[in-house]
Amino acid sequence: MRIVVFGANGGTGRRLIQQALDRGHDVRAVTRQPRSFPVAGAGLEVVEADVTVDAPVEGADVVLSTLGAPYTRRPVTLYSRGTAMILAAMRRVDVRRLVVVSSGATEPHHHAEGGFLLNRVIQPLVTATIGKSTYVDMRAMEALVRDSGLDWTIVRPSGLFDSDSVTRYRLSENRSDGVFTSRADLAACLLDQAADRTWIGRTAAVTTAEGAPTLSAVLRREAFGR
Ligand SMILES: NC(=O)c1ccc[n+]([C@@H]2O[C@H](COP(=O)([O-])OP(=O)(O)OC[C@H]3O[C@@H](n4cnc5c(N)ncnc54)[C@H](OP(=O)(O)O)[C@@H]3O)[C@@H](O)[C@H]2O)c1
Repeated sequence: MRIVVFGANGGTGRRLIQQALDRGHDVRAVTRQPRSFPVAGAGLEVVEADVTVDAPVEGADVVLSTLGAPYTRRPVTLYSRGTAMILAAMRRVDVRRLVVVSSGATEPHHHAEGGFLLNRVIQPLVTATIGKSTYVDMRAMEALVRDSGLDWTIVRPSGLFDSDSVTRYRLSENRSDGVFTSRADLAACLLDQAADRTWIGRTAAVTTAEGAPTLSAVLRREAFGR
């Protein structure tokens, strides 16, 4: 399969590219910083592009987007502008299959596995403050994707943590009780979606149960870089 990946140079993207090459796919990794891209291998093409300017999707069987931007109190436009560019490019060259990463926090809800700290403190605080503009833009992205008329799947992870081991991740419609998703599982999920039509036109929440760290450790690292 020929796969184009946006957000290729990120934590999830790098794992995704490696897993895709390991599975024998041909991969185009799109990044603004090709010189810092660490993955190499047969079947890999690294292309320099800013997705808000250009989305090189020609020749793809499937497009996977794991674009991301840090939390900020300023307006965020990467998700909607970047995805609009991807959608326009896909229509132009007649590529139909798209899988995009969003977030479970676009639809805040009670997590049975989250306890008081997540449900009553962290989730309300993050979605109302430092994450607010991110989730506004992610919801705009989701709306664009749902209205695209393409063969789309939206994948919503919970709080991301680093791991290179793929586990038996869980998928559920729209939302999940699970609190964590490993970047390895998110990458594997995106690749599995590339080859499967079950979730076309649907939103899948993906979570990891095995080997997840503590809530406070993930929050410190992901939100504040410590
Ligand atoms: N952190 C969490 O707990 C959490 C929870 C739920 C969902 N998510 C979402 O999960 C996804 C993956 O997260 P992650 O932490 O693995 O990603 P990440 O490390 O933040 O990587 C995102 C990548 O997006 C690329 N990018 C940003 N702006 C771009 C632009 N204008 N043009 C082209 N590429 C651009 C960057 O690549 P270059 O700089 O190389 O171009 C970057 O490497 C993101 O969508 C994130 O919002 C995160």
